[in-house]
Amino acid sequence: MRNKPNLAVRLQENAHLLITEPALYRGRWISEFGCNELHIELGCGKGRFTVETAMKNPDILFVALEKSANAMVIALERVSALGLKNVRFINAFAEYLIEYFAPDEASRIYINFCDPWPSNRHAKRRLTNQRFLRQYSQILVPNGEIHFKTDNHSLFEFSLCELERGGFMIAEVVSDLHERGPVGVMTDYELKFFDKGLPIFKFMAINVKPGPMP
Ligand SMILES: C[S@@+](CC[C@H](N)C(=O)[O-])C[C@H]1O[C@@H](n2cnc3c(N)ncnc32)[C@H](O)[C@@H]1O
Repeated sequence: MRNKPNLAVRLQENAHLLITEPALYRGRWISEFGCNELHIELGCGKGRFTVETAMKNPDILFVALEKSANAMVIALERVSALGLKNVRFINAFAEYLIEYFAPDEASRIYINFCDPWPSNRHAKRRLTNQRFLRQYSQILVPNGEIHFKTDNHSLFEFSLCELERGGFMIAEVVSDLHERGPVGVMTDYELKFFDKGLPIFKFMAINVKPGPMP
């Protein structure tokens, strides 16, 4: 993505939404922001999904990670324009999740249209690779959920296998989400695919792990 004009100034104008030292909130996101639950979105891009989902769920804290400041600045501006109180952004790579979130801290992770990395050489970079799943399992509560959407069938199949292999239970699989008309909140990418009539694949997986000892 090309550099956005006045990027530094625009980020500064929305600094109240940007968490620059996320490790400081580790283990206390919910208490710090006075919400009931924590949901995390990985690779939020320009934030259409973040904004609409947060608007519908004012009691849930949404923390959106995005490695590209050029994409994220649009998301920041959208949240700012609507005055949403329950969204924060981290400009970072999903690779470092466990440094930002404590075990059992989040109840849901959204992964929407992540980069497919089609070459086998780059499989480790896919956000549903085992090295990521181990982190998701750790930070999610028992029975916490991963919601995954993509237009890429190979990535979808790969991800389903990886999640099962990683001990998650696949609870819902949909092969053409909008076949009979739009369903749920769409992301920026999803809207483009939908307009072209392309199928969207979705699954929801549950973090099967024992709860804390009584
Ligand atoms: C294809 S775009 C999808 C954006 C958005 N989720 C949507 O559906 O419109 C993928 C996004 O994930 C971000 N991304 C890719 N790998 C990432 C990583 N390891 N950590 C954080 N963000 C990542 C990219 O910068 C990009 O904005």
